[in-house]
Formats: sequence, structure tokens, C-alpha cells
Amino acid sequence: MSKQQHSRTNATIVSQYEEYVMPIWKSLDVPLERAEGCTVQDFDGEEYLDAFSGIAVTNVGHRNERVVEAAKDQLNEFVHGCSYVHPNGPVGALGERLAEVTPGGLRKSFFCNSGTEAVEGAIKLARKYTGSKEVIAVEMGFHGRTLGSLALTGNRAYKSGMAPTINNVSHIAPPYGYRCTTCDSDSCPGTCANNLKRVIDSHTSGDIAAVVVEPVMGEGGIIVPPEGWLARLKEVVEEHDALLIADEVQTGYGRTGEFWGVDHFEVTPDIVTQAKGIANGLPLGAFTATEEVANAFEAGDHLSTFGGNPVACAAALATIDELQDGVIDNAAEQGEWLPERLSELEAKYDVVGQTRGLGLMQGVELVDPSATGPQGIAPAPDADLAKHVGKNLRERGIIVGVGGFHTNVMRIQPPLTISREQLERVVDALDAAIAEEA
Ligand SMILES: Cc1ncc(COP(=O)(O)O)c(C=O)c1O
Repeated sequence: MSKQQHSRTNATIVSQYEEYVMPIWKSLDVPLERAEGCTVQDFDGEEYLDAFSGIAVTNVGHRNERVVEAAKDQLNEFVHGCSYVHPNGPVGALGERLAEVTPGGLRKSFFCNSGTEAVEGAIKLARKYTGSKEVIAVEMGFHGRTLGSLALTGNRAYKSGMAPTINNVSHIAPPYGYRCTTCDSDSCPGTCANNLKRVIDSHTSGDIAAVVVEPVMGEGGIIVPPEGWLARLKEVVEEHDALLIADEVQTGYGRTGEFWGVDHFEVTPDIVTQAKGIANGLPLGAFTATEEVANAFEAGDHLSTFGGNPVACAAALATIDELQDGVIDNAAEQGEWLPERLSELEAKYDVVGQTRGLGLMQGVELVDPSATGPQGIAPAPDADLAKHVGKNLRERGIIVGVGGFHTNVMRIQPPLTISREQLERVVDALDAAIAEEA
């Protein structure tokens, strides 16, 4: 270990960030020195149970042995050759594997480096295939921060001062039953899907390239659409000869207890975007389309110097092996139990407005019961409480995300390898933290 590494402490790392890294963070979380499974350790030797996975990425556990070995093996062969200039084994094998595991008849993939690039590429492909310009996304949705994906992201907070983004993008209402402005029903019949037709008729030329949707909205606050919602969108998409792009960057790779988020809704998308969990932390993104759609791309239409890095692709192959060898089953099993425990918190505390999610993608929405929320719907979001509960959890050695459109949702998205005992620790700590902070 170098002298410089020896002298690292949490304080020195944070001060380097403050001095030398662009100040884009709202608050810095636990500095990381090392991580293993569901445990991370800071530079001062403190250990934390990680229930957020570096924003839903390390799905098969930090430093998963099979993934680390696969990456090391490839590092020993070669690191880079530009995968679109020099064909290589991991890219070919991963392409073939994705054709097996992606839903429906999806067959050909493009590999990039991140979620936002996957979304950008998918929009380009949809425009090229359909010859149309217009793209529709969902209010409160999140698709990334580069200018194309930022246009789809349905939250002004991410766009302020960055305009203009790309044109020809419209948004439909989100399937956010708890704060629904479309219908006044607790059971959320999903009629807001009809909003797509209205938006197309009111705001677009009618010539639609794609509708881009997260099967479960992650950054928006773990919003699960009601049954039938996605299927209704698909119907309207087909009526317009457009494409349905499922943004599975966050929901894919077992996060919801199925391989893909769309697996819960029996809807087949035309393009699936992927990143986050795909290579368990190595930078990789992808979008996969049907052969017919994919073949709309011609030579020179798209490329990325680092995209489909062979080390990252080797890690992705090992990640998929791990997911299929029991990790998704664990996510499904723990993801059955966790919502039951969280709903007990909803019954116990009036500051817990709603708990919701699929698999190991669960949200706890915190509210101020003494005030009414935006547009007079539901109790007011309590972002301050969420911030304090997050901090309190840190002090208890637990990392949970805080997010959502109103920044008032505790996001529980641990590695999918998490045990029942570890999850119990998370829920018990959350219970105690809410009791203390509310
Ligand atoms: C659904 C979804 N799409 C796209 C992105 C952007 O991914 P990245 O941060 O890798 O660019 C995210 C990131 O949170 C996401 O949740």
C-alpha cells in the first residue's frame, strides 16, 4: 500500500472532493474503502450494511467472486481494442446471451458505458427505424442526464439551467396512485394510461417514434404501475406504429425479483435499455432490439470508443450466471417478505404514507400528516424527515437511499444476495429511526 493510501481518512477524502471534484452532490454519503457482499467499509474502519447497492448496481453482491475472477481473467488477456473495431469474445458471447435472456424476440444489442447512453442510443434507433421524431416519456420518470435522456426525464429539478434539451418530447401522467391527479381512486385502476392517447392527440404530430417507460419508476420514488397500465400503453404504441422502449436500467438484472421489470406485466417491448446491474459495478450499458428494428442501424450510425469494454462484458456474463444460479430466486423470496414488514411500518406510523415496490426495489414514502400534499392530494411529502431518517440509519450502520420526485422516499435496494437476517436488521433500524425522528 502506498504512503498516500495509508494516510487516507474519511476527512481527507471528503476534503479532496470539496477541493478538486465538481460540486454536483447534495450531500456526500459514506466514503468507501472496501466492500464485500452486502457490507461496505469506510476509511475510518466503520462497517455498514449496504441496502442501496451504489444506487441499485451491485446486484450480485460487492466484489462477487465469480464476477471478479471473470474480470481478472479478461484483464490478463487484454483490456481494450475498441469493440466496434476489433471483434472480441466477451462482446460476442454477451450479445448471444442477451438474445436468450431479454424478453420476447429481442436479438441484437449495442453496448455502451452507462444508462444514459443506452437511452440516447435507443432513441436514435427508434427514430431511424420509424422515420418519426416524436418521443413520449412519463412525468416524474428518470432516464439520465445527457441532453437527449434529460429531455425524457420528467423532473424540472434535473434540467434547471440546462435547456435546451432535444425537441419533440412530450410526457404523460405517471401511474402514481398515491398522488394521482388523474382519477380519485385508492385502488388505482390505471386509467391514466389513456392519457397517452390524449397527449399524442394534443401535443404531437401524431407521428410517434417511441414511448419510453420505466416498468417501475426508480428515481421518481419506486412507483409501481397498476396491472394493465403498461399493456394499455403498448396497445396505443402499436396503434401508432411506434416502438415501446422499456428502460430497464434500474429494474433489470433481477432487481424486481424477475430478470426484467416487464416480466411482471406480460408486455413485450421493442427495445430494452440496460445498465446499472448489468456488470455488477463495472461500467457497461446496452440496448437490445428485435432484429428488424436493430437492422435499421447502418454502418457508421452509432459507435462508442469504450462501449462494450471486454472486461466489463466478461463481468456481465459472470453476473448473469450468478443471477440465474439463485440470486434472482433470493431477490424474489426476500422481496415477498420485505413488503409485508414494511407495511407494518405503514400501519404503525402516520408519517409513513405508503410503502410499495417489487422484489428488492422497495420504497417507503414519508409524509407530514398535518399538511396536505400538492394539488390537495394525500398528506404532504416530508423531505426533511426522509433526510433525517437516512442520517439516523447511517448512524446505525445502515445505508438506505433517499429519493423520489419529492425527495421523501426511503429507497431500499440492497444487493440481491442479501439474507433475511440482514434485511431484518434494515427494517428494525428503519423502524427505530422513524420512531426517533418523527
Ligand atoms: C431508469 C434509469 N434510466 C437511466 C438512468 C441513467 O443511468 P446512468 O446514471 O448510468 O447514466 C438511470 C439512473 O438512475 C435510471 O434509473
